[in-house]
Amino acid sequence: MVGIGDEVLSKFKQDIDEEETRPQSDRKLKVGIIGTGWIAESHVESYKRMKDVEIVALADLIEGKAERFAERFGLPLARCYRSGHEMLENEELDAVSVCTYNSTHAECTIDALEHGVHVLLEKPMCVTLDEAVEIMRAEKKSGKILSIGFQPRFDPNMQMIKKIVQSGVLGEVYYIQTGGGRRRGIPGSTFIEKSTAGIGAVGDIGCYSLDMVLNAIGYPKPLTVTGYTSDFFGKNPEYTPPEDAKRFSVDDFAAAFIRLEGGIILDFRISWAMHMDTSGDTLILGKKAGLRIPSTECWNGSIGGPMTIYTDIGGQPIQYQVPVLRNEGPGLFDRKIRSFLDAIITGGPSPVPSKEILYNQAIIDGICRSAELGREVEIVIPEI
Ligand SMILES: NC(=O)c1ccc[n+]([C@@H]2O[C@H](COP(=O)([O-])OP(=O)(O)OC[C@H]3O[C@@H](n4cnc5c(N)ncnc54)[C@H](O)[C@@H]3O)[C@@H](O)[C@H]2O)c1
Repeated sequence: MVGIGDEVLSKFKQDIDEEETRPQSDRKLKVGIIGTGWIAESHVESYKRMKDVEIVALADLIEGKAERFAERFGLPLARCYRSGHEMLENEELDAVSVCTYNSTHAECTIDALEHGVHVLLEKPMCVTLDEAVEIMRAEKKSGKILSIGFQPRFDPNMQMIKKIVQSGVLGEVYYIQTGGGRRRGIPGSTFIEKSTAGIGAVGDIGCYSLDMVLNAIGYPKPLTVTGYTSDFFGKNPEYTPPEDAKRFSVDDFAAAFIRLEGGIILDFRISWAMHMDTSGDTLILGKKAGLRIPSTECWNGSIGGPMTIYTDIGGQPIQYQVPVLRNEGPGLFDRKIRSFLDAIITGGPSPVPSKEILYNQAIIDGICRSAELGREVEIVIPEI
């Protein structure tokens, strides 16, 4: 992946070299990596900092890629395979990180769970709602831990949003505007083709916007969606490198109007490319106060400055700022990996549970279906 995303993701890679948090297992957990591409680097760097982990196997569909990765990351003893399935058939693993592109998230995760292996699955959970349901059925049957890789959950500012909502200071929340996105930031590589990514900006960075607000308000069930997607920039060879424009087959912009259980309205938009600096800050409106969360230039689940709370006190409109909090201690990626390992050791619960991200995926699925049909769609979640 190239472009603006690198700059922001590098923030997640700046992990502080610190002792990992307890508890640790009394034996080393045997971990395998499925998909040795770009994000696998962050997983491996984090796992290597965990003293109770041994990375024993790597798998990638591309010939020689896992071997080159093993060499680059100093893993001479890791056994290399040409697919996640081959690895699972031949190894006795405790856990895997599924770091493949979106279109193989479901098959690799289900396969791992069926082999009795705990899974840390990269975001977005998968491509469709049906896939998310199948993943959760496999999870339920296996009894294993499944955590979805939303590292912004460990950002103290993201946690503050949830604390503000849960404190009751906003009162009953009735309307949320979220999204944001990039003026110019279409990734390349496997992110822009339907066969590998399945979905574009709506899944890649839209899932972060949805998680930020839905997690804060307790993930109410989504009921209906009117969605829109477009691809005017990605497909344009005067904007996107012609070789990328030719294979571009996902969305680069999405907007949606979503009704959530409890009468809450969610107004959403996300962009990899647009002729605008921002599609707006995130606003959470409650009956007692409103919260503004500044957007960032490169939306990927962080905040763009101090948040502001707007309210009336003594009949006067008052606003006050919530200072930006610094992340102390281990970096977000280390926290994401550590929380997954701790859940394995203690028997759970999953730090980022599928039962929450299911609704995130259901909204993404609803946006894509509604955009295709040109009308509002109902979200029906099958029994798991
Ligand atoms: N959490 C984050 O901050 C973050 C950042 C970037 C990407 N991601 C997510 O990580 C995932 C991967 O992104 P990336 O940039 O590393 O992609 P990538 O294309 O660089 O790497 C994916 C790799 O998976 C391999 N693969 C696919 N199916 C496989 C299978 N069945 N068995 C073995 N290998 C298989 C591919 O050959 C490829 O090498 C995406 O879902 C993306 O959304 C998360």
